[in-house]
Amino acid sequence: MNGPPPGSKPRPGPRPWLLLVDDEPDFLKGLVRFFAARGLGPATASDGGEALALLEGGGFEVVVSDVMMPVMGGLELTRRIKELEPEIEVILITGGANVGDGVAGIKSGAYDYLSKPLEPEHLLGKVTQAREKLATARELRRQVEFRARVEKQLEAAQRLAALGTLASGVAHEINNPLAVIRQTAQWMDLVLSKPEMEGFPRRGELQEALAKIFASVQRAAGITHQLLGFARQDPPRAVEIGLDRLVRESMGLVEQEARTRGVELRLIPGGEGETVWADPGRFRQILINLLTNALQASRSGQTVEVTAGTKGGEVVVEVRDWGPGIPGEDLDRLFEPFFTTKPQGQGTGLGLFVSQNLADKLGGRIEVESRLGGGARFTLRLPNRPPAEPAPLGGHEDRLNRAAATFVPQSPKE
Ligand SMILES: Nc1ncnc2c1ncn2[C@@H]1O[C@H](COP(=O)(O)OP(=O)(O)OP(=O)(O)O)[C@@H](O)[C@H]1O
Ligand SMILES: [Mg+2]
Repeated sequence: MNGPPPGSKPRPGPRPWLLLVDDEPDFLKGLVRFFAARGLGPATASDGGEALALLEGGGFEVVVSDVMMPVMGGLELTRRIKELEPEIEVILITGGANVGDGVAGIKSGAYDYLSKPLEPEHLLGKVTQAREKLATARELRRQVEFRARVEKQLEAAQRLAALGTLASGVAHEINNPLAVIRQTAQWMDLVLSKPEMEGFPRRGELQEALAKIFASVQRAAGITHQLLGFARQDPPRAVEIGLDRLVRESMGLVEQEARTRGVELRLIPGGEGETVWADPGRFRQILINLLTNALQASRSGQTVEVTAGTKGGEVVVEVRDWGPGIPGEDLDRLFEPFFTTKPQGQGTGLGLFVSQNLADKLGGRIEVESRLGGGARFTLRLPNRPPAEPAPLGGHEDRLNRAAATFVPQSPKE
């Protein structure tokens, strides 16, 4: 069987990783026959330019090239290959008396050189060694990358734990002065509203100023509430509770917001009468965040739909809106802390981060489906499980904790 003519494109089948380059067709044919008989099926090129064109296609690991070729010789080809893809190993074939060419080849980055007359078995040995060297280098790089990835995850886990401690400390500290500000402002409001204050100069302006204080205190309290929920140390507790009641309670808490925005909040019938196991406090906090986002994304006259039920051992709640939707590039970032697209002063970017974290601690997750112009659907999935059954490991946080506890980078499996 003859090998493919010089310059031929590789035949269909496994992609060749070996490229033979020589301007002597008979010599090339002989080598192709030798390698093909050993199941290697190399690609071939009759000069440097042709070889580079083939290499552009990728997938090659070892190039065997003659040094003496017209137009572009083996030394120049080696230099160009190393520029194009430094990983590819090059073995040069020099004329019998030209040891200097071989040395120059090594300087240009060649793996090794052999002199003519060539012993094909010897060449096969070199090709195999060169390929093994490449495999070892790749394996090493994979390990380094794997280690860097694990270290990054570990760092993220530690940062998150530190953030939790810090957040709860700050939130507690801020809650006290907030309460004082609120009470004092309430007292001032009360005094200003008394009949004897009727003619008090600039009374209206003072009341407006107090309204601003109330709104800001409300916002700051919202942030500390999120942070405290995120940093909660008490273990999740599951109680048996009516799903319908739980969902309606959460919807009730955002009803005012819905009314102010002129958005209809609708619970789609379906889950009535179902009893589930849930941690009501955490469940409510997650659902309120999802509902608030949906309401904030909706225009007046639109509807936000909620469905709740159980499926395959899980409590599944969906919040669907017909707002502007979420662009693809934002989808990956939604759950990052402080990611917000809302104007300054309106969004802190903590809602989804905290919610995903809470869902994670409960052994569940939040999924999102959305596209620009098509609204958004957020799905909360939580295990429907009595407290006696421990949550199986597998949540995001568990994975990070286990990575932290067993930080022994192993060879990644492909
Ligand atoms: N239903 C939705 N429709 C469109 N975009 C959404 C929706 N829900 C979330 N987003 C996007 O995700 C971002 C992050 O949401 P997240 O709830 O974490 O923070 P936020 O709402 O901006 O601020 P916070 O909830 O802390 O007040 C939002 O700023 C918004 O860009
Ligand atoms: Mg939000």
